[in-house]
Amino acid sequence: MIYNIKTLSQTKKIAQEFAQIIKNKNQAIIFLKGDLGSGKTTFVRFVLHYLGIKDFKGSPSFTIAHEYYTKEKKVIHMDLYRIQTKEELLNAGIFEYFDQVAIFFIEWPNLLEIKPDIVIEFNLTIKQRSIGIDWATN
Ligand SMILES: Nc1ncnc2c1ncn2[C@@H]1O[C@H](COP(=O)(O)OP(=O)(O)OP(=O)(O)O)[C@@H](O)[C@H]1O
Ligand SMILES: [Mg+2]
Repeated sequence: MIYNIKTLSQTKKIAQEFAQIIKNKNQAIIFLKGDLGSGKTTFVRFVLHYLGIKDFKGSPSFTIAHEYYTKEKKVIHMDLYRIQTKEELLNAGIFEYFDQVAIFFIEWPNLLEIKPDIVIEFNLTIKQRSIGIDWATN
């Protein structure tokens, strides 16, 4: 399903629906794909809000990941933008994170050779934004 996005509140509404799906899970790997500034972090911020996480820390930069807890689950938000090689991925200790039972939101996952459960594609052109979610794979 591809949603054309004209306002921030539209992104918020999709994030709310997405949070409902995530609420039923303990473990999921979610890839967020799309160019710089296409709205990945904004979407994650809203989903976390609807999961009851009130202390969103922004996109991880100096650290690779930010970790959050709700009553029932652990949520890990990763941003791999700065990682340029598979060796750097290994050195950053990325793969140890995946030993945990958690919901993973991963921006810039291109180098990761793991299979996501859900892929969300963000698109931004001069004319419009869109968010594509493959709900069927959930
Ligand atoms: N639906 C929207 N409507 C209007 N502005 C938006 C929308 N979604 C995101 N933005 C704005 O676009 C800018 C970039 O968003 P965001 O940081 O979420 O992008 P990103 O894909 O995470 O970028 P990066 O690749 O740098 O991590 C922010 O200023 C944000 O407020
Ligand atoms: Mg981002």
